[in-house]
Amino acid sequence: MKQLQVAIDGPAGAGKSTVARRVAGRLGLSYVDTGAMYRAIAWKALQENLNVFDEEAVTQLAEQLHFSLHPQGVMVNGQLLKEEIRTQEISSLASAIAKMPGVRRILVNKQRDIAARQSVVMDGRDIGTHVLPEADVKVFLTATIEERALRRYKELKARGADVDLDGLREEIRRRDENDRTRKHAPLKQAKDAVLIDTTHLSIDEIVESIMQLCRHKLGGG
Ligand code: DC
Repeated sequence: MKQLQVAIDGPAGAGKSTVARRVAGRLGLSYVDTGAMYRAIAWKALQENLNVFDEEAVTQLAEQLHFSLHPQGVMVNGQLLKEEIRTQEISSLASAIAKMPGVRRILVNKQRDIAARQSVVMDGRDIGTHVLPEADVKVFLTATIEERALRRYKELKARGADVDLDGLREEIRRRDENDRTRKHAPLKQAKDAVLIDTTHLSIDEIVESIMQLCRHKLGGG
């Protein structure tokens, strides 16, 4: 039977992971956080004292890592990674290594393998355009940069991190630009993706809109 694929893309802080996780829960599908995979490579590279700008070394590392799904985060070589990959340092490094074509090729293959074995809700930057171009439902989430910075601020604050809103806004702006202008599979709305501006929407409202799209697709084909 063909697996069901729901692709959710958008810039940092648009609400993708919270929403994707909930939609996956409601539909009984696996949730795949592809950003966590880029973050995990950045984290592992730091752990192993690799030069994170050495493309060959980082690509080799990506090849060696085994990723598996876990309800609370991503498992890398059997280790569950959670808060440690959510720092600002890892965010910036992940965006930098996401430019490396070798790293992208390896991760895209791993992501497609995961989606071939089970039905998924997958979120990222290039899921609808590149990783799963045939996805059944494609959504592109956006929100103003002010709102996205504020959401990240609240999220990090709630975890007890010492953050500053101006710094966060600047980091998100820089990361957006990096992700949008890179040569390989940049952040872009797929032609057949449904755009949802989440600036004034609650999480429940976004989840409900996506559920409607999914029900329409599942019911009407
Ligand atoms: O979604 P996130 O903020 O956790 O992603 C971290 C970085 O990884 C992001 O700045 C860009 C990169 N990324 C990517 O290039 N392609 C994806 N499918 C997911 C993330």
